[in-house]
Amino acid sequence: MYLGIDLGTSAVKTVLVDDAQRVIASESRPLATASPQSGYYEQDPAQWIAATFATVDALKASRASALAAVEGIGLSGQMHGATLLDASLRPLRPCILWNDGRAAAECRVLEQRWPALRAVTGNKAMAGFTAPKLLWIATHEPDIFAATSLVLLPKAYLRLVLSGEAVEDVSDASGSLWLDAARRDWSDAALAATGLSREHMPRLVEGCAPATTLRRELAQRWGMARPPVIAGGAGDNPAGAVGIGAIRPRTAFISLGTSGALLLPTDRIAANPDRVVHTFCHAIPCMWIQAGAILSAASCLAWVARLFGVTEAELLAPLGARPPAPSPVSFLPYLAGERTPHDDSAVRGMLDGLSHDTDRSAIVQAVLEGVAFALADCRDALADAGIAIAQADVIGGGSRSPFWLSVLASVLNIPVHRFAGGETGAAFGAARLGRLAVTGEAIDVVCTRPQRIETFEPDAGLVDAYAERLPAWRELYRPRH
Ligand code: XUL
Repeated sequence: MYLGIDLGTSAVKTVLVDDAQRVIASESRPLATASPQSGYYEQDPAQWIAATFATVDALKASRASALAAVEGIGLSGQMHGATLLDASLRPLRPCILWNDGRAAAECRVLEQRWPALRAVTGNKAMAGFTAPKLLWIATHEPDIFAATSLVLLPKAYLRLVLSGEAVEDVSDASGSLWLDAARRDWSDAALAATGLSREHMPRLVEGCAPATTLRRELAQRWGMARPPVIAGGAGDNPAGAVGIGAIRPRTAFISLGTSGALLLPTDRIAANPDRVVHTFCHAIPCMWIQAGAILSAASCLAWVARLFGVTEAELLAPLGARPPAPSPVSFLPYLAGERTPHDDSAVRGMLDGLSHDTDRSAIVQAVLEGVAFALADCRDALADAGIAIAQADVIGGGSRSPFWLSVLASVLNIPVHRFAGGETGAAFGAARLGRLAVTGEAIDVVCTRPQRIETFEPDAGLVDAYAERLPAWRELYRPRH
């Protein structure tokens, strides 16, 4: 039996997976994000711990004997966040999240201080990444910077509480800008450019390798006879990849979670930082992931639902199965700024083409199309790095909408597929990593491709209509920096 815990942005999701890889139970607890200023996003790490414990306690209540049989735990998590700990390993301030844009100026400083940054990390310095956040802290909260003895990504903090040890996996670490992506190790030069050293960093392991074990008292609380092994785990996107068996080249996928991404596993680094393509280590050895990442995907739909005071399901129901034509309205999904292709934390979203005839459905459709156009930008940035994508699987909460998947297929002009239970992807992938860390089985035997339940083909008429619309949509973007 294996446990997969995904510390997401909107919730902690925990799944219990049996030896036949069936999800036998899952629990989820919501997380709140504070936005002290426009473009600033923070979470209290204590909230992650309370939510995680609540999910596992609930599994204890409903599936005590299965939980007692857990041998391996895998963690997945929202990437890039800066959790700063003092010498007693207590958080010094709320975690600054992956979508926080406050450190834009520090990115320029970092690239000036360390000109090899793009070549070594495979990434452009972007405000959402961890290293610029530390430079921001050094300037704006110098007492906190001086008191910082350990910097952890969100799931490494969770692991510290679960195990007592500071360990991180290389996939999540590759979103920090402190990792040498080819060597899969911390870069001393990168750390020095932010006034840090290896002493401020956790120990590194591969995602499918054992990292540590669960604290004895927690094992007892959850009725486990022997403390389970905790695997390295992965950032949420690499963990999602493991969940759907996207572990080898030519297995492109799209994540429609709070954020969005178009991702492709590769067996060599094919970086394109100038076009804001992201380079991540994969959760399995000798593989990487190249990705275009957008900051707001399903969170745009949640935003419209809040505006209209209805649920997302109520927004989507009147749209039907597929669009007859593009919406007359256009939407830029830059509610929290954007990464690929603009790297612009100051830009904000836009609705264009509103009229007296505009109804709610036209706006909802425009929002779904705007996210799809942003993913088309990601596709073009990847194409610029020599990466062509012929089809894609879709994971994340957004994959539940057939309408959205039809739009994506026609905007990207590729077939897109979805799985049953796709929305639990990252937690399931984490459970697989937990299993690999315990059993040492062959990776390809465990990380198989689940059965696709539906394929959405591009619709010829819509493909042309969207291709015509895309240049005008792109024209709407006006840099604010
Ligand atoms: C990836 C990214 C997001 C977060 C939160 O670069 O920032 O996917 O991991 O989901």
